[in-house]
Amino acid sequence: APYSIVALVGSLRKESFTLKIANALAKLAPASLRIDVTMLNGLSFFNQDLEANPPADWLALRDKLKASNGVLVLTPEYNRSIPGVLKNAIDVASRPYGHSSFLGKPVGIISNSPSPLGGVAAAKHLQNIMPGISGPIMGQPEIYLNHVSDAFGDNGELVKDSLKAVLQQYLEAFAVFVAKQNG
Ligand code: FNR
Repeated sequence: APYSIVALVGSLRKESFTLKIANALAKLAPASLRIDVTMLNGLSFFNQDLEANPPADWLALRDKLKASNGVLVLTPEYNRSIPGVLKNAIDVASRPYGHSSFLGKPVGIISNSPSPLGGVAAAKHLQNIMPGISGPIMGQPEIYLNHVSDAFGDNGELVKDSLKAVLQQYLEAFAVFVAKQNG
């Protein structure tokens, strides 16, 4: 069976480039990976008061991550960091203390932006956030996808060959990384 990969999408909007990239990755994935594009719309805010009796949507996210063989975190850049909705999901999944749903999971971090900088500042923040609560982060190849606003057609399909090639290269490396961690 292919390794099951949860792709967390750090934007809620319907026409999100981050979502379109996640969908493109799912489509381009090699046979060894099955990518489950996971939206965070409606996820309850983290609140320590709720920890004793967690909302069902927290438990669903945690269970999905625990059942996976690896995680891709896809983020746009908001004010030189990650969006609050993505941080909220990470906080939810990191708990209870010592029992993070990311534990042992190999992680890939993918930022994007319509700007020339590719959301690198957001990706760098994720590279600080994740190591304490997850398995190993794939450090190489790095991937900060820039100029993404001209990469998709009217139906959301990826039409930019250079971006497609970069995603394919990344997926090949991530497949090797996931196989090693799950081996
Ligand atoms: C942005 N955007 C943005 N872009 C960037 O490269 N660096 C940044 O710091 C910011 N900051 C920022 C803050 C807020 C509140 C918004 C709404 C937007 C622009 C952002 O890259 C653009 O809106 C993307 O289209 C958002 O990603 P999705 O929704 O297309 O996935």
